[in-house]
Amino acid sequence: MHILHVVGARPNFMKAAPVLCGVHGRNGTRQTLVHTGQHYDNNMSDVFFEQLQLPRPDLNLAVGSGSQARQTAEIMVRFEAVVLERKPDLVVVYGDVNSTVAAALVCSKLMIPVAHVEAGLRSFDRAMPEEINRLLTDQISDLLFTPSQDGDENLVREGIVKQKIHLVGNVMIDTLIRLLEKAEHCAPPHVPERYVLVTLHRPSNVDDLEALQLILEALAEIGRDVAVVFPVHPRTRQRLGQLGIDLRIFHLLEPLPYLEFLALQRRASAVITDSGGIQEETTYLGIPCITLRENTERPITVALGTNVVVGRDMTRLRDHLNRAVSGQWKRGRVPPLWDGHAGRRIANILS
Ligand code: UD1
Repeated sequence: MHILHVVGARPNFMKAAPVLCGVHGRNGTRQTLVHTGQHYDNNMSDVFFEQLQLPRPDLNLAVGSGSQARQTAEIMVRFEAVVLERKPDLVVVYGDVNSTVAAALVCSKLMIPVAHVEAGLRSFDRAMPEEINRLLTDQISDLLFTPSQDGDENLVREGIVKQKIHLVGNVMIDTLIRLLEKAEHCAPPHVPERYVLVTLHRPSNVDDLEALQLILEALAEIGRDVAVVFPVHPRTRQRLGQLGIDLRIFHLLEPLPYLEFLALQRRASAVITDSGGIQEETTYLGIPCITLRENTERPITVALGTNVVVGRDMTRLRDHLNRAVSGQWKRGRVPPLWDGHAGRRIANILS
């Protein structure tokens, strides 16, 4: 069997690594890895391949940045040629980025079976490009691998037959468990002893300058009491200069490699974020997480884990942060099957 994996953006890499590893060496199976090039900077892509010990991609489609339509369309055109030439028996797509839906759509028209890793997550917010990507990818996938029970329930409600759905656990946590000890020994960037860690990149937070201004004003206020360490995503970097805020109060960093970022999460008093994956990683690590979004497609991190969703309510942000830094935070539990073996379960099913 020839399995072709498609990755494109930073959060795909830590999800694909355990599946590639789980399938590797199985009798009668060969694998091809295609990078769409949606993320192309060294610090958004190459360094992750090195640290996660991912094989070099067999092909890089080098699509680069563009509008939603242009990027998605460009991936489809270039990926269609790859599928026609390489003739995989199965294509595996990851997460909810534009590369995910573009590759799935190409395969569905060419009648190539598609497996979706991290299926079933829903924010129920169709203003998010990722929600559209999730909904469409799941409808046209043949195998749906979910990280938690809520994913199964969402899929069944959308009419997907149960036989296609497999609750396998969280592949991103596989990677975290594998590399946590290595991260403990890596030297993260020089930061103060006590700090909160911030990441922001959602279009709803950073493309809307008024929203971004409000968030940064609140963070600047927080920065007077506790150090704010802020690795800046390229999308956010483009906007920061357009605000009338003195950024010197923050410890601004370039986007960090996987191990360095994991080390910083592990030692943070709290994490403030709008990322999906970081809500999961902090839940596993037991670190307080405050999510600056109106909703989450990962409700288990709130129900069982250490996450709270505060939307754009900056008073709630400050209240929760005070609680976190003074040690008054819910304890949280690690969700079922977030145990480091999701990649192996997927490989068993694929076999
Ligand atoms: C994408 C995903 C998002 C994911 C995020 C992780 C979609 C719709 N969104 O958002 O779900 O959480 O990746 O990072 O797929 N840029 C660079 N260098 C790069 C990549 C991007 O400078 O290596 C800049 C580009 O100028 C681009 C901007 O960042 O305009 C945004 O990149 P893009 O891939 O469009 O989406 P993300 O915001 O990264």
